[in-house]
Amino acid sequence: MDTYKLLITGGQPLKGDVEVSGGKNTSVAVIPAALICDEPCVIENMPDIEDVHVLRDILELLGARVSYDDALKRITIDPRGVNDCTVPYRQTRRMRASYYLLGALLARFGEANVGYPGGCAIGNRPFDQHIKGFRALGAEVTESNGMICAKGTMTGAAVYFDRPTVGGTINVMLAAVKAKGNTVLLNAAKEPHVVDLANFLNAMGGRIKGAGTDTIRIRGVESLHGGTYTVIPDQIETGTLMIAAAATRGDVTIHGCIPTHMESLTAKLLEMGVSVTDADDAIRVRPIGAHRAVNIKTQEYPGFPTDLQQPMSALLCMAQGNSLIYETIFESRFKHLSEMRRMGAHVQIMEQTALIEGVPELHGAPVTVTDLRAGAALVVAGLMATGTTEIYEPGLIERGYEHLEEKLRKLGAKIRREPV
Ligand code: EPU
Repeated sequence: MDTYKLLITGGQPLKGDVEVSGGKNTSVAVIPAALICDEPCVIENMPDIEDVHVLRDILELLGARVSYDDALKRITIDPRGVNDCTVPYRQTRRMRASYYLLGALLARFGEANVGYPGGCAIGNRPFDQHIKGFRALGAEVTESNGMICAKGTMTGAAVYFDRPTVGGTINVMLAAVKAKGNTVLLNAAKEPHVVDLANFLNAMGGRIKGAGTDTIRIRGVESLHGGTYTVIPDQIETGTLMIAAAATRGDVTIHGCIPTHMESLTAKLLEMGVSVTDADDAIRVRPIGAHRAVNIKTQEYPGFPTDLQQPMSALLCMAQGNSLIYETIFESRFKHLSEMRRMGAHVQIMEQTALIEGVPELHGAPVTVTDLRAGAALVVAGLMATGTTEIYEPGLIERGYEHLEEKLRKLGAKIRREPV
């Protein structure tokens, strides 16, 4: 239970410039990857978020020396002292990406014992494809007492994923980077953070080609050296800020982002009647006319990201007309809409489809955050609503957004904390 709640008084158009932080889902892959290197790594643009700090604790527990400079947003990881390949559940339960320790420790020691991962409650989140990949590379994998134990000499192989999986692609790539021989990942995920991890591993001496396409080829190398790497900006934070700007009919320029990563969202905002323009590494969002309802189907990259479905569907609650949202990735990602009914949203939820009937006004109400992106969605809802929205359990937002309240406040949002 969080000791504070967020209070948002809506109706203020956000205005000004904001800088996007480094990517959460790329950082949580690159930090475990540093364990595979023989020398220290310096990773820049590392966001100051809970997930990064949880991983830092885990790496230290394993024997790595880690320091985080929050002014420079830089983490330094010296993995030379790591002498343990067991990570207990009390550590792994704190985040989903803790399962990347399996791939990383397998690559380093040929053995990994890792507790079941935690993470957001957005439905059943199996990791059978990760295990299938490890087995294909020669690991014997067993599961008992809440631990996943994998052991074996990694040997290159072909791995076909039954469906594109970000986590599976990243985990098997980690395990395969130092395998004997060649690995091919087929039907691989194409998300920007998959590409970023491949770029990190290649910068440290890996030989990975094809990341960003559905076929990734990995030629196993003897060792990885250390070095300095800068992670890409956060695609989902960029999108959340774009949606928040549209929701308040504000005029916001988001700097330090990669506009090509945002194309599916940009297309939908344009379809709604929002002005979105980009130049180099900045995106500007401004209002044109009334917001029109649009339909959204979440898909793997470059489709519309499930992580932006939640803030986007909050925005659609006040668009003119009916929007249909079809969530194809996770089965339980509409909890924010149920909360928003208390704010006056008209929503019908049928399994993985939500029908949103836009209303002219939402009003402030007490709501509870159930998962990270639901938190972002409720913040968007609070910014649009008249009156004050009280958001309980907002700590989940800190898992993945760096200083979101501060950034919104600088853009003119009336947002503050109050103890509970
Ligand atoms: N799936 C399987 N078997 C597997 C792995 C996945 O059936 O072994 C299914 C999942 O149940 C899901 C689909 O495949 O239906 C895609 O899952 P994926 O593996 O791509 O998701 P993930 O790796 O668990 C990452 C992000 C999520 C993001 C998804 C989709 C990280 C740490 N997490 O999760 O991010 O929603 O990809 O893009 O990178 C978030 O940031 O809030 C978040 C939940």
